[in-house]
Amino acid sequence: MTITVTGASGKLGSLIVRQLLQKVGANDITLCVRDPKKALLYQELDVGIRQIDYDSPESLQQAFTHTSRLLFISSPHMDDTVRIRQHSHVVEAAKKANVEHIIYTSFAFPEKSDISLTHLHLATEHAIRTTGIPYTFLRNALYADFIAQLGLGVATRTGELITYPGIDGFNSVTREDLALAAANILTNNAHKNQTYELTASRPWHFADLVQALTEITGAPITHREDSRADNWLYRFLSRIDTTSTTNDLETLIEKPTVSLYEAVRQILTDKREDNTRTK
Ligand SMILES: NC(=O)c1ccc[n+]([C@@H]2O[C@H](COP(=O)([O-])OP(=O)(O)OC[C@H]3O[C@@H](n4cnc5c(N)ncnc54)[C@H](OP(=O)(O)O)[C@@H]3O)[C@@H](O)[C@H]2O)c1
Repeated sequence: MTITVTGASGKLGSLIVRQLLQKVGANDITLCVRDPKKALLYQELDVGIRQIDYDSPESLQQAFTHTSRLLFISSPHMDDTVRIRQHSHVVEAAKKANVEHIIYTSFAFPEKSDISLTHLHLATEHAIRTTGIPYTFLRNALYADFIAQLGLGVATRTGELITYPGIDGFNSVTREDLALAAANILTNNAHKNQTYELTASRPWHFADLVQALTEITGAPITHREDSRADNWLYRFLSRIDTTSTTNDLETLIEKPTVSLYEAVRQILTDKREDNTRTK
């Protein structure tokens, strides 16, 4: 069995590879990277390493040869029209290479919003279905790192978290939990033709966020809504479904998802480490 992973050098891909290495032999894994230098970490291991580019159909077909399960990590390109073309290349190459199962990282509850991002993911899911190859759609909710964009630094300095009115309730998840779910699926034969909405099991609210910040920093922080807090992030959040939840992720990882408290603690620790490095 060969498990082939695209986007293996990325943040989610690296975590998935780490999980896979604990579950199967290195020689069952093929990592697809754009820049082979980014796979140097794995050189000592017996993993296969292939150079791919979503813009190069030939590189994809070659890399996917002899693949039993392909983990197709969606492209991070900013232009969704370009992403559709890149994703078509991946799907077509998977078909030509006779891949046996495609596992695709989609986005949670795409039918409930009307933006290019969710059209892209639905279009890719449909393209995968056209191949007739068994699929598993991992509809990943917002990564918890969006919380870092909410002005946590200002909130801890001023004692007040200010957010745009009317947007509250989040089903965000950590990449660590998503990576474990993906690795469990990639190493199990039981998930063909399934779609999973990978969200937190319960939504959290800004009241929970300021409580977590208060507990972690030891300084009281309150929450206030203010329409002057408008920025691109709130416009984006208002157009996707951030509140619907399922137990799919918890079921797949066989444990509770990472708590809001732990996700925030990690974000603040990472920020402190970044600040120390840049000094
Ligand atoms: N659910 C969410 O909240 C959320 C948020 C952001 C992104 N996403 C999606 O989830 C995906 C994975 O997230 P992530 O955090 O792991 O992103 P990431 O760290 O940016 O990783 C993206 C991966 O895609 C590779 N890649 C980029 N362009 C490519 C190309 N033309 N051909 C082949 N590989 C290419 C990158 O390779 P290099 O290392 O060479 O750049 C990298 O390995 C993203 O790509 C994006 O589609 C979801």
